[in-house]
Amino acid sequence: MREKLLEVLAEPKTGAALTVEVDRHQGGRILEGHLVSTVTGIRYPITRGIPRFVRSDNYAESFGRQWNAYQQTQLDSETGVDISTQRFDDETGWTSADLEGKWCLDAGCGAGRFAEVAAARGPNLVAMDYSSAVEATARTVERFDNVDVVQGNLLEPPLRVGAFDFAYCIGVIQHTPDPALAAGNVVAAVRPGGAFSLTIYARRPWTKLNAKYLLRPLTKRIPQSILHDAIRSAMPVVFPVADKVFRVPIVGRVARHSIPVAVYTDRDHLAYDKRYEEAVLDTLDMLSPQYDSPMTWQEVERVLRGVGAADWHFNTKVPINVVGRR
Ligand SMILES: C[S@@+](CC[C@H](N)C(=O)[O-])C[C@H]1O[C@@H](n2cnc3c(N)ncnc32)[C@H](O)[C@@H]1O
Repeated sequence: MREKLLEVLAEPKTGAALTVEVDRHQGGRILEGHLVSTVTGIRYPITRGIPRFVRSDNYAESFGRQWNAYQQTQLDSETGVDISTQRFDDETGWTSADLEGKWCLDAGCGAGRFAEVAAARGPNLVAMDYSSAVEATARTVERFDNVDVVQGNLLEPPLRVGAFDFAYCIGVIQHTPDPALAAGNVVAAVRPGGAFSLTIYARRPWTKLNAKYLLRPLTKRIPQSILHDAIRSAMPVVFPVADKVFRVPIVGRVARHSIPVAVYTDRDHLAYDKRYEEAVLDTLDMLSPQYDSPMTWQEVERVLRGVGAADWHFNTKVPINVVGRR
C-alpha cells in the first residue's frame, strides 16, 4: 500500500483514523507492517502490501478460491477482447477525464476485471474485497502504481465516510447477507457531489423459480472442490449442447431459465476455449456462493433515499444498474 491510502481508510465500526507502522517497504510501497487505530489501539496487519481488516475464513471464501483459480479468465488484458471495458463504460460512463487523479473505490473487486479498466484511466483506485480474491486482484493490477488493494468487509467498511469521488460496485451486493446495507455503504463512501454506480441482480416475482435458485440450497452446501470437479466433468457435454439450444428462439429463453449453466451465446468474438473456461467459472460462481439475494429496483431506490443520494438514473432495471450522485 501507499502511505497516501491513509487519506481514505478508517477503522471499521469506530471510523477512527489509523496510523501506520512500517516493517518492510519497497519502491514507495509498504509491504509489511500494521495500521493502528488511534481510538481502540487495535492493530490491523499489512501483509504482501495489502492492509487486512478481516480474516479470509468468512462467508465469501468460496469467491477467494474461485478468483485465485480463474484470475485471468475475464481480464480484457488476457482475452484481448474488451468485454469488461465495455461493461465498465456502459455501467459507469466514467472516462479518463472524470477519473484522472480522483479517489475511486471498486467495492468487491473479485479478480480485478474492472479494477484494471478503471486503473488505466488514472484515478487513485482502492480495490477492496472481503475474500482472498485480493491476492488475485493484486496480481491483476501489479503493473499500475495508482492502485491500492484492501481486504475489508463492505458491511463494516474500513473506509472514511465521504472520502471517495467515485465508487462502483458490480455484481457484489446480492452476495452479501445484507444487500441494502452493502448498497448504502457504497454510496456513503462517496463525498457529496461524488458519483456512484451499482450493478445488482434483479429480483422479479419469478426469479426464484430459475433453476439456479432451485439448485443452490444444495450446491452451496457441497464442498466447493467437489462442485468444481462436477462442473468440470459435466461441461464437455453440457457446453456444446447449451451453446446450440440457448440460441434457438423462444426455446433458448426457456432453456436458459431451466438449465443452470452459464453459457453466453452473445460472445462469439471470444475464442471457443475462453468461452468454455468462462462457462466453468461462471457456473461455479452462480452455484457456490453462500448468499445470492437479488433486489428489486424499488428496494434500491429506498436505500438511495435513505443514504441521501442526490439524484440517480437506472440504466437498466434487469439487471439493476443505477448511476447517480450523492
Ligand atoms: C461475483 S464476484 C464479483 C467480483 C467483481 N466485482 C466482478 O464483477 O468481477 C462478488 C465479489 O464480492 C465479494 N464480496 C462478497 N461479500 C463482500 C463484502 N461483504 N465485502 C466486500 N466484498 C464482498 C466476493 O468476495 C467476490 O469477490
